[in-house]
Amino acid sequence: MSALAQTAWRPDGASDPLATRHGLIGAPVSRIDGPLKVAGQARFAAEVPMPGLLHAGFVYSPVARGRIKAIDTAAAEALPGVALVMTHRNAPRMKPPALFGTTPEAAGASDLPIMQDAEIHWNGQTVAVVLAETREQAEEAAALVAVEYESLPAVTAFAAAKAHAHPPESVLGEPAVLEIGGAEAALAAAAVKVDLTFTTPRQNHNAIELHAATIAWEGDRLTIHDASQLVTMTAATIAQVFDLDPKQVRVLSPYVGGGFGGKCLWDHQILGAAAARLAGRPVRVVLSREGVFRLVGGRTQTEQRVALAATADGKLDALIHTGIAAMTAHNACPEQFTFPARHLYAARTFKLVQQVAEMDMLANTFMRAPGESIGTFALECAVDELAEKLGVDPVAFRRGIEPENDPTSGHEFSARHLSEAYAAGAERFGWAKRSATPRARRDGEWLIGMGCATGTYPYYRMPGGAARITLTADGRARVAAAAHEMGMGTATVQSQVAAERLGLPLDRVSFAHGDTDLPPSPVAGGSNQTAAIGAAVIAAHAELVKALLKLAGNASPLAGLSTDEVEGRDAGLGKRGDAARFESYASILRRAGRDEVTVQAEAPMPLELQKWSMHSTAAQFCEVRVSEITGEVRVARFLGSFDCGRILNAKTARSQFRGGIVMGLGLALTEETLFDERSGRIVNATMAEYHVPVHLDVPEIEVIWTDIPDPRTPMGARGIGEIGITGVGAAVANAVYNATGKRIRDLPITLDKLL
Ligand code: MOS
Repeated sequence: MSALAQTAWRPDGASDPLATRHGLIGAPVSRIDGPLKVAGQARFAAEVPMPGLLHAGFVYSPVARGRIKAIDTAAAEALPGVALVMTHRNAPRMKPPALFGTTPEAAGASDLPIMQDAEIHWNGQTVAVVLAETREQAEEAAALVAVEYESLPAVTAFAAAKAHAHPPESVLGEPAVLEIGGAEAALAAAAVKVDLTFTTPRQNHNAIELHAATIAWEGDRLTIHDASQLVTMTAATIAQVFDLDPKQVRVLSPYVGGGFGGKCLWDHQILGAAAARLAGRPVRVVLSREGVFRLVGGRTQTEQRVALAATADGKLDALIHTGIAAMTAHNACPEQFTFPARHLYAARTFKLVQQVAEMDMLANTFMRAPGESIGTFALECAVDELAEKLGVDPVAFRRGIEPENDPTSGHEFSARHLSEAYAAGAERFGWAKRSATPRARRDGEWLIGMGCATGTYPYYRMPGGAARITLTADGRARVAAAAHEMGMGTATVQSQVAAERLGLPLDRVSFAHGDTDLPPSPVAGGSNQTAAIGAAVIAAHAELVKALLKLAGNASPLAGLSTDEVEGRDAGLGKRGDAARFESYASILRRAGRDEVTVQAEAPMPLELQKWSMHSTAAQFCEVRVSEITGEVRVARFLGSFDCGRILNAKTARSQFRGGIVMGLGLALTEETLFDERSGRIVNATMAEYHVPVHLDVPEIEVIWTDIPDPRTPMGARGIGEIGITGVGAAVANAVYNATGKRIRDLPITLDKLL
């Protein structure tokens, strides 16, 4: 725990000095990897060249539960170019992957055995993998594998599953049931209340980059070029599956074409590694778009109830948010839709209950703000309805129920400036022009309406991260962490932060990432990566300063100073508040006869999360136009006003927020996985039939932020990867109501629901 003493944002400590420093922090620096990507030189997992490569084709089960009775691979094997067909009969013996969350290094999306027996657990499960010289040969051969199934009764209808719904053991470590006071009694007694049911559909991951891995064995050493948002955990879990030492598995993933929670460990990497071992040749796996729907889980479906009771003076007497999410018996993603209600509003009583209903289906998973995205849809639509019943403007109503401290834990907020975000957003958006009466504005056939909603997402900082810094005598620094670049600007922002901390120009700092040979990193998920790496870099920097002061010795102007008294500036170390006492890095290293100095340190445990309630919040504003003739909804304008602590790079942050909002427009209006409840088959496993927003669906999106540092986090920043999508569904739905007078409580808001 010695690392603890190095944290400056520990419960009794001061905040990170960078939280209030201006200069590189916050600057709109363009992506360092931008030129490489534009030139096509950034190499993604499916592009790594390798001699002797075989390509994989997949065969998916068309039954939801059952057994393989017979499997005939002869026709496939007879095709030219086919090297082998792997089924449960010849697959190497492998352990089931440890389920994500069961240990810090477990990455399994489910803990089902992978191709070890004849059992079928979901419609879409891989029953055979074909390896061939070309991708086309592999796919053609896969189509020739003849499988006979014995079907068993399966739970593929949500209604049937709901009959056995139960609270899960925990919801991401929090209790599934949380009650304060008698909320149902308060609701029954209230004069003004709403009691509403919301439904949200399944959604699938559709990152532009398909899931891919290029895999090679060298004896018992396994190298996987993956598209991954958790390289360290993937290496550890694959080692566990194949019974290897974790050091024998190397996972590289320098560039990822979108993650959003979907680019984790699924069956394809493990099947690819197994097939490569069997074939004795390297293998490339690139899932087809259909394959991503069959093998990679997405957001699950929910049914939620939100009931709110108001007091006579417009406060909340009861906040009830309960519901059921579909899940499998083999995974652990209960979709934390009650989390927003735990932290957003002051209420006298609470009843928050999450249940899961088990179905025979592909393991569902994290998908950008799992829980919070759809939880805020239900909660924030209900708040809008209650405000209307009270005859109060919804922005004013929300400000009136702002909590002093976290309403369910009682903890102090580390920082919370939602009211400022609302004020700035409302002003900028022209909220005052909104008519409180629905159907008051029109332009020909188009009804125009405005809506708003609150977004929220927790601050997380996962343990287990480390960072290395190498400082060279020519005044350059190389920072390294396993870490992940999924397009959000990891390398750019970490370079900025490191340069500012070291007092070096940006072009003197590099950030290496995407490789398990580098110091370990936790998952780039839960919007925690920037803080997690930031904390590790702070720890490494403290070690570096210690090492430099030792090297500087008594002949230096820094002689006698302690680590706390110095800071990085002007390519050297200087005494805080004393311009005269300074020595450059180059001078320190040269005098000590050193070419470079390297340090590595682990981030301290995230104790800040135990002491404070830490959340980002947002005020989301939307204007829609709805055709009275066709029911078509067009989003005309959108504005997100965010309170996420310090913004580290104005340019990449704007993209993150906008990307989240765009994904929220999909959630609100178009995205829906169509799941045939008779067969458990996903029937729209193509981007032609699964509708993500395209350019024409996305209006001008304005993004602003408070930029008020959070004193309890590294750099004063909270995560920004997921909050953008939260609140968007409700902002759109509330705008649609304001335009049309119709409340749609079932996502997505398609035109049939408005006619
Ligand atoms: Mo996020 S859904 O934790 O990538």
